[in-house]
Amino acid sequence: MPYGKIIAIANQKGGVGKTTTSVNLSAGLSLRNKKVLLIDFDPQGDSAKALGYTEPNKMKDTISNIMLEMIVSDECDIENRIIHTEEGFDLIPANEKLSNIEKMLENIEDKETVLKDVLKSVQDKYDFIIIDCRPSLGMLTINAFTCANSVIVPTQPEYLSATGTQQLLSRIQKTKNDQNPQLEVEGILITMADERTLLGKEINKQIHENYGKHFHVFTNKIPRRVSIAESSAVGKSIFKYDSKSDGANAYHVLAREVDLNAKREIKRHRDTITR
Ligand SMILES: Nc1ncnc2c1ncn2[C@@H]1O[C@H](COP(=O)(O)OP(=O)(O)O)[C@@H](O)[C@H]1O
Ligand SMILES: [Mg+2]
Repeated sequence: MPYGKIIAIANQKGGVGKTTTSVNLSAGLSLRNKKVLLIDFDPQGDSAKALGYTEPNKMKDTISNIMLEMIVSDECDIENRIIHTEEGFDLIPANEKLSNIEKMLENIEDKETVLKDVLKSVQDKYDFIIIDCRPSLGMLTINAFTCANSVIVPTQPEYLSATGTQQLLSRIQKTKNDQNPQLEVEGILITMADERTLLGKEINKQIHENYGKHFHVFTNKIPRRVSIAESSAVGKSIFKYDSKSDGANAYHVLAREVDLNAKREIKRHRDTITR
């Protein structure tokens, strides 16, 4: 039985590695033989682009028309819209039309639960559904938090001290209280880490001091590497582009940890049911 775990990759700051992490975590999990669906949930369509679909605005089937169907008729055909990528996982792309959906959401009832309803029919077919959020805490991101089991917060060391992270964590807490009691922070993931500089080391220490008490901070950091940026630019995961690199290794380790977490949660869940 697939895990059916939904993970949102979120940070309202742009350029912190959300898309890169979404794509490479999805690829890393499929290399572990997990069935994965990646939902691009940013009107920029960067996840699709990072997988070689260079013109998402020309794509007909995206998360927008699926959500629109759900809004208009309370049902949707998601399965026929899924793309099977060469990386071994499935994708639902996004494009600029998703901004219109976000505006539309403001005026409907149950605006927080549209994505949840959309994913209901496919959730049990996947081990993981990864949602690449847009850089904002607007209604799309709230939709992602409302259906997710957990959130991974990629962040560049320079941004962590900023109040933005605090806002993000409070938003997650608010969704947990209001809509989705199961929501957890899977972990704060440091991306584009520069281990060699003294500043890098100092920032690391601060991150653990500031957040480590309340949230899991992945000890495995994603290093800043040109090959990681290049792999997205040519539309491939780091595993296909440069499988022996330490960037690939870091994403392997992340995928392993995420996979083992899910396995442990399922075991705990089963234990409580049979007790
Ligand atoms: N570990 C990394 N090392 C070097 N460049 C990276 C790394 N992670 C992401 N990038 C690059 O940084 C930019 C922003 O990353 P991206 O994943 O698109 O962030 P976001 O989705 O949060 O806006 C992209 O050009 C990407 O290729
Ligand atoms: Mg992005």
